[in-house]
Amino acid sequence: MKNIFAIALIFVTAAATADDIDKRQVLHLTELQRDHVLTEMRALLSGTQKILEALYKEDMTAIAAHARSLGMGMAHKGEDHLKSVLPREFMQLGMSVHKAFDEIAADAEALKDSRYTLRQLSESMKNCVACHESYQIHVEKPSATRRTYSPDHPHHH
Ligand code: HEC
Repeated sequence: MKNIFAIALIFVTAAATADDIDKRQVLHLTELQRDHVLTEMRALLSGTQKILEALYKEDMTAIAAHARSLGMGMAHKGEDHLKSVLPREFMQLGMSVHKAFDEIAADAEALKDSRYTLRQLSESMKNCVACHESYQIHVEKPSATRRTYSPDHPHHH
């Protein structure tokens, strides 16, 4: 129930403050939450680069290791507090990316077919593109009196 409440409030706030130039849906996060998301994003980019490098060397073991580091294990690292803040569609899109990297890792080990891995990577990166086309982050100032749900300050309205 808490989740639905949070999502509803995010949509209300987004409608009120959405930027006219950047039409993507606004995610209102604290500085810390934004840092969590962007740190994960940079890990996704550098991990993807490492997979590509391993791919051209046809090093299937390295591909599997790098892909697995971007899998569901990564998602479970301290993201529980973000779950209540981010829209469900956003979380699902994120989870599908992590699942895809686990699949890439498993298939790289089982099939050892670099072209197959390349196709999987290309497919899964469509989710990176889709999410970036849909969302932008705005930082919620801690002193703001906006009525946004904040799990860190449940009594602050
Ligand atoms: C579920 C949504 C979602 C998915 C999936 C996603 N991203 Fe992001 N990413 C974001 C958002 C939101 C931002 C911040 C955009 C903004 O505020 O303009 C971002 C920002 C980034 C940034 C900038 C980081 C920084 O330090 O500013 C990079 C790099 C990035 N993403 C890479 C990736 C890669 C690579 C993938 C796929 C492997 C990916 N992202 C998948 C939502 C997502």
